[in-house]
Amino acid sequence: MSDKPSRYASWTAGKLPLPELLEMKRRGEKIVMVTAYDAPAGRLADAAGVDLILVGDSSGMVVHGRESTVAVTLEEILVMTQWVTRGAKRPIVVADMPFGSYEASDEQAVSNAVRLVKEGGADAVKLERGGTTVSRARAIVGAGIPVMGHVGLTPQTATVLGGFKAQGRTAERARLLIEEAKALEAAGCFAIVLEAVPAAVARAATNTLTVPTIGIGAGPDTDGQVLVWHDMLGYYEGRAPRFVKRYADLGAVITDALARFADDVRSGAFPEEQHTYAMPDQERETFEAETTRKAGG
Ligand code: KIV
Repeated sequence: MSDKPSRYASWTAGKLPLPELLEMKRRGEKIVMVTAYDAPAGRLADAAGVDLILVGDSSGMVVHGRESTVAVTLEEILVMTQWVTRGAKRPIVVADMPFGSYEASDEQAVSNAVRLVKEGGADAVKLERGGTTVSRARAIVGAGIPVMGHVGLTPQTATVLGGFKAQGRTAERARLLIEEAKALEAAGCFAIVLEAVPAAVARAATNTLTVPTIGIGAGPDTDGQVLVWHDMLGYYEGRAPRFVKRYADLGAVITDALARFADDVRSGAFPEEQHTYAMPDQERETFEAETTRKAGG
């Protein structure tokens, strides 16, 4: 008897095969992606049956407490990708290429993407924007590394966009956004993230593109959805964007647990005997007799 899950047309043991994403789009099965930044999160996302994990540069804000993603470094993404890939086996792990790691040239983009795959263990990389990124994406795909595109609100260039705002809200802007997505598809991207764009624009992009679209703040009609780990689990003190749905309130759970720990330590209720190591009575008596003798001079 085969243990192939019925939802996959071409399942092989272990990793979800990348071409399966196209098949899922064709079958109208939604693709699930979540961000993760360490091994336990990778393991939990895998156990929950998530299809794709993004080691996102959103880590700059939700993990490292920065104001934006701009200062995130390749080394940070590299180390987090190593952690996540130790925990996640079946999901396709996509490493975000941080700002400054691919803009200078196709050569820079390829050599940094190779590091994320070779040293980080990533299955694929993600780049933001159209424009010069199209050439970078083509070069990386040419080097044998799968690339995910990302258009709409692209946080690495939020200053140019006038802040963290929805994109493609005029007919002209919507048309340009879909052109960018098509150019990225033509460059070989296996999927495109659509961030903070009107549902009508995301629907049109999804119908136009052959490759899957993964939406975040892009309405219900994309081929898949992604949310940021800390936002969806309520593990972040800032105000989450309107497109976030909270599935847990881990911040409150953790604060409550820490407050109870602090109370127990202060009252002496922790540790109890079950948390404490003992030694054989004879050894303890010898030890205590020796220390009492020494203390007595
Ligand atoms: O860095 C990130 O988490 C992202 C997602 C919002 C798509 O790019």
